[in-house]
Amino acid sequence: MSMPIHNRIELQNVSQSFTLNDNQVHLFQELTLSIIQGQSYAITGPSGSGKSSLLMLMAGLENPTSGQGIYVNNQKNSALSELREEAGFIFQQFHLLPELTALHNVALPLKLRGVKNAEAKAKVWLQRVGLEHRLQHKPQQLSGGEQQRVAIARALVFQPKFIFADEPTGNLDTKSAQEVADILFSCCQEHGAGLVMVTHSQELAERAQHIYVFSNGKCHLNTKVNKEVCDDNQ
Ligand SMILES: Nc1ncnc2c1ncn2[C@@H]1O[C@H](COP(=O)(O)OP(=O)(O)OP(=O)(O)O)[C@@H](O)[C@H]1O
Ligand SMILES: [Mg+2]
Repeated sequence: MSMPIHNRIELQNVSQSFTLNDNQVHLFQELTLSIIQGQSYAITGPSGSGKSSLLMLMAGLENPTSGQGIYVNNQKNSALSELREEAGFIFQQFHLLPELTALHNVALPLKLRGVKNAEAKAKVWLQRVGLEHRLQHKPQQLSGGEQQRVAIARALVFQPKFIFADEPTGNLDTKSAQEVADILFSCCQEHGAGLVMVTHSQELAERAQHIYVFSNGKCHLNTKVNKEVCDDNQ
């Protein structure tokens, strides 16, 4: 019997800006939103609008300039950084470990968690993303699309509660992109994971239940049932 899912990520009035050579770049201001486990979200918008930065904040990998992010885990509130154990992240630039084979890259999150038979489980996931013939290759011996699929297998192998995917189909042909999207969504459905994807693909975005659209420094929420502007105090 499955328990109801209460886990969620809440960003409260978060702003993110960077100072570079005396210039201040405001990516977004006073953004309030929540991500609920078991649901799917897409973040879209022009290059440089702040999508990857928002994803890093949501996953607790970076801190906002102001405001706060909290992880509500069955009514217990904690810092977003505590989510890290439970979140799989697929980076735009993959960040695979160059010295490790595809198999060992995927097995690593399991080994770090003390899971038995890590390599056998990693192999199953590499098969699932269509890379059973590339187990012993190191990242630089793989194509961009292959590295992306290794990164996806590495993010999903420990059945995380939340999956963050930055352009997960950016380097793939139409058929592989569709297969990877199917895997992400079925993972979300089978294990009740929350899925947050940054994407330039309208087709992929439309498969999500909720879409956040960046435009002109604002972020609008567009859900399948109703359309509303997310609270950015503007
Ligand atoms: N650490 C940083 N210091 C200074 N500026 C930064 C930093 N990180 C990001 N930026 C700037 O913030 C802006 C948004 O970056 P971000 O990577 O979030 O964009 P994006 O929407 O993901 O773009 P893309 O679609 O090209 O991946 C960029 O203009 C970038 O130069
Ligand atoms: Mg980006």
